[in-house]
Amino acid sequence: CGIVGIVGRGPVAPLIVDALKRLEYRGYDSAGVATIDDGQMERRRAEGKLVNLEKKLQAEPLAGRIGIGHTRWATHGVPNETNAHPHFSTDVAIVHNGIIENFAELRAELIADGYVFASQTDTEVVAHLISRELKRGSEPVEAAHKAIRRLEGAFALAIIFPSHDDLIVAARNGPPLAVGHGDGEMFLGSDAVALSPFTDAITYLEDGDWAAIQRNGVTIYDIDGREIERPQTKARSTSFMVDKGNHRHFMEKEIHEQPEVIGHTLAHYLDFVEGRTRDIPLPFDFSQIDRLSISACGTAFLAGSVARYWFERYARLPVDIDVGSEFRYREMPISPNSAALFISQSGETADTLASLRYCRSQGVPIAAVVNVPESTIARESDAIFPTLAGPEIGVASTKAFTCQLAVLAALAVRAGVQRGHVSPEQERELVRFLSEAPRFATAALKLDDQIEKLARELSQVKHALYLGRGTSFPLAMEGALKLKEISYIHAEGYAAGELKHGPIALIDENMPVIVIAPHDRNFDKTVSNMQEVAARGGRIILITDTEGARRATINAMETIILPDVPEIIAPIVYALPIQMLAYFTAVFMGTDVDQPRNLAKSVTVE
Ligand code: G6P
Repeated sequence: CGIVGIVGRGPVAPLIVDALKRLEYRGYDSAGVATIDDGQMERRRAEGKLVNLEKKLQAEPLAGRIGIGHTRWATHGVPNETNAHPHFSTDVAIVHNGIIENFAELRAELIADGYVFASQTDTEVVAHLISRELKRGSEPVEAAHKAIRRLEGAFALAIIFPSHDDLIVAARNGPPLAVGHGDGEMFLGSDAVALSPFTDAITYLEDGDWAAIQRNGVTIYDIDGREIERPQTKARSTSFMVDKGNHRHFMEKEIHEQPEVIGHTLAHYLDFVEGRTRDIPLPFDFSQIDRLSISACGTAFLAGSVARYWFERYARLPVDIDVGSEFRYREMPISPNSAALFISQSGETADTLASLRYCRSQGVPIAAVVNVPESTIARESDAIFPTLAGPEIGVASTKAFTCQLAVLAALAVRAGVQRGHVSPEQERELVRFLSEAPRFATAALKLDDQIEKLARELSQVKHALYLGRGTSFPLAMEGALKLKEISYIHAEGYAAGELKHGPIALIDENMPVIVIAPHDRNFDKTVSNMQEVAARGGRIILITDTEGARRATINAMETIILPDVPEIIAPIVYALPIQMLAYFTAVFMGTDVDQPRNLAKSVTVE
């Protein structure tokens, strides 16, 4: 979703719509604007594209000099006018982007307090929560702060109050927000591009920040309400979407976008309100097939390799997977009761496409997980499962990978439901677990300082080993791939149990071993493999969770500690620290991070 807010000098509704047009790439299920005029809040909302809202505003203009606007990409509740933002409570209007995870619990609490809900959105919960604080006697800024503190999830918010025509409260926990500085007017937007017609003086809010925006400036606070300083920067007049924001590289920006785009993608496949996988059209019925063949290249292949564990475990569906360049020549006998799945960010990779055409010649139904819906692979498939990662510019894939994982996890649960291996209760639980991925991804990003320090050491070595078991095995390969792609350090990803069958011969004090081990059913076995490394003087970096860190008592080991996360989302969350480790290492090495040597974003040759 896209967010805009303006405290202006004249009527703001037309300016808000102008800014929303630049945010339409973030969703266009519905749109809306609310302004405050003479102590009255009023809104116009419309289903569908922005033009519908524009027409409404032409017929019935809004006069206010302060307002907020929103273009929606539905997560909770169908895309109709009632669910369109802004949402109102008695004395507050709000627009929101992201997922409020604890909305069900808050909603029940507010209903018990007599609040009546007009929509099915999680956003309305926030509006009523603030309204309740106002009723209890808080001033708007304080009321918003108290409400924000109660929210769990990844979200961006803009809030206005009819009692105050010089105040927008903004909050960021995950999805981006940029504050634009004007002359006697101030702006808020999901990105700087949205604000480019008004100003290029931008302050980016960081995760956990919230702010009070008034015509004469902005005051930014941390979650405890302490005032903090954030630098003002000059946005470069770059074209659509190709804006690095306040990041040094596209890769860094794309790593940071993950909480938002993962949420966006999951919402396409999961109904968080009902706790169900959505009924998406498939070219085959999961209950009617006895095998799924997956083919992909590079990072997409590793996403598929994680998915194999999910399909086999949750849906009891056998999967065979190969890289495109092998799959196409394997002459694999394809059983008539199978289906083929292709995974590709670009949708143009030649070897993946050739594999698809081989399967087409064998007459099996074909589906593809793609990030570019107009691509060749998308067009030649019977159905596509889009990743809603947005354009990925950095050659080394990051957000496309985690969005591929999000789609594949949702599909595996769906397959489990259709095949009768996932009960309605389990489905509800798995959907809830998946909805927590954006929040945990946000938490992972906060480990950047520690990871940067470790990367400084890693940039001194010539080789590195990555180990993992279960879904952490393909993730170990992805960690090694990321490191070699952008830092040019030689790295290998191994199944932790294979260490003793070869790579252990390489272990000495110059060989760092990065172990990916959430505290799951495989954990104790992986710790044994770490002991084998430690006994031979190897240096270990353990990426684990709180419980894992408590149990792994090995001396001279560095630990990167993530929150304890449900097993199904671990690969999504653990992808972030390994991306960050490779990114910071490459920055220390001084390589061309976004365009590493010899590589291409889209490989359309064999
Ligand atoms: C290239 C890119 C990788 C990508 C692979 C597959 O090698 O550098 O980042 O994973 O192609 O690309 P695709 O567009 O099919 O996902």
